[in-house]
Amino acid sequence: MSDNRSFDKSMELYGRALNLIPGGSQTNSKRPTAYALGAFPIYAQDAAGARVQDVDGNWYIDYILGLGPITLGYCHPAIDEAIREQLDRGIIYGLLSPKEVEAAEAICDMVPCAEMVRFLKGGSEVTTAAARIARGYTGRDLILNCGYRGWADGWSAETRAGQGGVPQCVGECVCSLPRYDLDALGSLLDAHKGEVAAVFMDAVSYPQAPPDGYLEGVRDLCDEHEVLLAFDEIVTGFRMAPGGAQEYFGVTPDLACFAKGVANGMPVGVVCGRRDVMAAAEDLIISVTYGGEALSLAAVCAALEVYRTEPVFEQIWASGEKLMSGFDALADKHGVPLKCHGYAPMSSQTITYDDAELSADAWTLLLQEMAQRGVLLRRGGLLFVTYSHGDAEVEETLAALDESLAVIADAVDAGDIKQRLHVTEVEESFRRFN
Ligand SMILES: Cc1ncc(COP(=O)(O)O)c(C=O)c1O
Repeated sequence: MSDNRSFDKSMELYGRALNLIPGGSQTNSKRPTAYALGAFPIYAQDAAGARVQDVDGNWYIDYILGLGPITLGYCHPAIDEAIREQLDRGIIYGLLSPKEVEAAEAICDMVPCAEMVRFLKGGSEVTTAAARIARGYTGRDLILNCGYRGWADGWSAETRAGQGGVPQCVGECVCSLPRYDLDALGSLLDAHKGEVAAVFMDAVSYPQAPPDGYLEGVRDLCDEHEVLLAFDEIVTGFRMAPGGAQEYFGVTPDLACFAKGVANGMPVGVVCGRRDVMAAAEDLIISVTYGGEALSLAAVCAALEVYRTEPVFEQIWASGEKLMSGFDALADKHGVPLKCHGYAPMSSQTITYDDAELSADAWTLLLQEMAQRGVLLRRGGLLFVTYSHGDAEVEETLAALDESLAVIADAVDAGDIKQRLHVTEVEESFRRFN
């Protein structure tokens, strides 16, 4: 049953934010207009395990999870204790922190390609650093890229050179690579012989899984052309497997970028890879004040220890699989064209009616109805799952979905879906993937 949660405090804060913060949010994908503004919480004030509380006092099972960084659950005791212990000893020093060495050792033990490591603060920083390392190592400028690598000029230029504040000239250094197309990759490498520093890609380009043999084929083509292969593991890392997609698929890149899953929410980015390639970083300008910030690195050490010693990934996969099969079964039951895709730790969902506007409205109604029943979903997924999402959370989620899909089916039958939306404004979610 819906319990008529109100979002008054969220809406009041958002009104103030719009006057002060361009776009109202620091993160495009978190803009309230991407969810169901007016019918969905906006500000959170507390969290524990798989659950988050909004500023109006409502609790939810959370599948958004900071857009991916939370892998173990909110306020995981081992991580929080490591942060508190370090806090008592200082946050950042002018000297180096031993945590830099300990965290680097833990990453090299866990990630197949990692022989050397640099720590930065976020995804865009590490993909940008990886590009610099690849260019510095090879002495070549061109990068072939497939997918979203963050907001930096060098990456935004691929789709926005000469517009939206991105200079035209940086577009010359990155060339778009079509998704899962080995022939296209081969042709681009032939056409730009001796010019390409690296191929950057996600091992999993959502929503489809890589076709059989694709990643091995990319690896072979890169070797043949003496071009570096860099995996962006910012979504897949410490989520699909302890060593990320490269461990899961058994294909080892030369460089890899991690951010979201490294420290259960603390801001850390990792660029790592082959010793000879990473060693190039010694003579390149890749330098940030906060790279050795010790609270986050203490969290890295603690998180990797939990990944190493507890059945984190088994649990994440098991709960994710129950959710995916439960979603698909309930969609069939109610005749709603909702479908799950991808991998259980980070599945995506589509709702596909013949009419695109109806599909978009059905998504908004689903977000609204699930929020009313205490579950936070994201339009289109990714549906992230943590170690804290157990059977109780899965059952509660599926019970909420059962009722919510009944409402959608009824609204579609009655032809009154728009009247059932309590939203004030909706826009397509920020597109993260090309
Ligand atoms: C695959 C991928 N790469 C890079 C980034 C950029 O990371 P950040 O937002 O931490 O800069 C993201 C962010 O969502 C991402 O999903």
